[in-house]
Amino acid sequence: MSDVIATLEADHRRVEALFKSYRLTTDEQRPQVLSDIVRELSVHAALEEQIVYPAIRAKLQQGSEEADHAIDEHQQIKQLLSDLERLDMDSAEHGDRFDGLIAAVQEHVSEEEGELFPQLRSALEPERLDQMGSLVDKARDLMPTHPHPNVPGTATAQLLAAPLASMTDHIRDFLGGLRGSGDS
Ligand SMILES: [Fe+2]
Ligand SMILES: [Fe+2]
Repeated sequence: MSDVIATLEADHRRVEALFKSYRLTTDEQRPQVLSDIVRELSVHAALEEQIVYPAIRAKLQQGSEEADHAIDEHQQIKQLLSDLERLDMDSAEHGDRFDGLIAAVQEHVSEEEGELFPQLRSALEPERLDQMGSLVDKARDLMPTHPHPNVPGTATAQLLAAPLASMTDHIRDFLGGLRGSGDS
């Protein structure tokens, strides 16, 4: 059994730990830490957009407004991730975007953990939260691993576009890994 809120909060803690190691790591390791951050946040955002926010829309009083607001914040985060993947890591813009990312994620996470998740916990039976947690665990490997800021974060758009985006991402990761591994 895995309570969905515990799972999502564990994701948040993992991203915070990666933010710390990004600062502390060597120049050589930093691109790997950045790519871990991009993957963790892209997968997490897609899981929330496809599974958790629709439940929030359905069960919370102001659910639609809450979900729309959260999706707007995801959009901002995805745009920053996409910039970070594109910009030269040594540039000043890259540093600015990274600071912006930390601030945007911190604010979003504190809204989720402080307001949204407690409301979801009181709106749903514990069994439902466990079911949703199992669904999140099963869906995790199927989610996109890179940001797709041009795909809207609404559940319908996500369900239509995410499988293709996700497959493309997984192939890109595999081929990138092959190139990085020195195999021939
Ligand atoms: Fe979120
Ligand atoms: Fe989250």
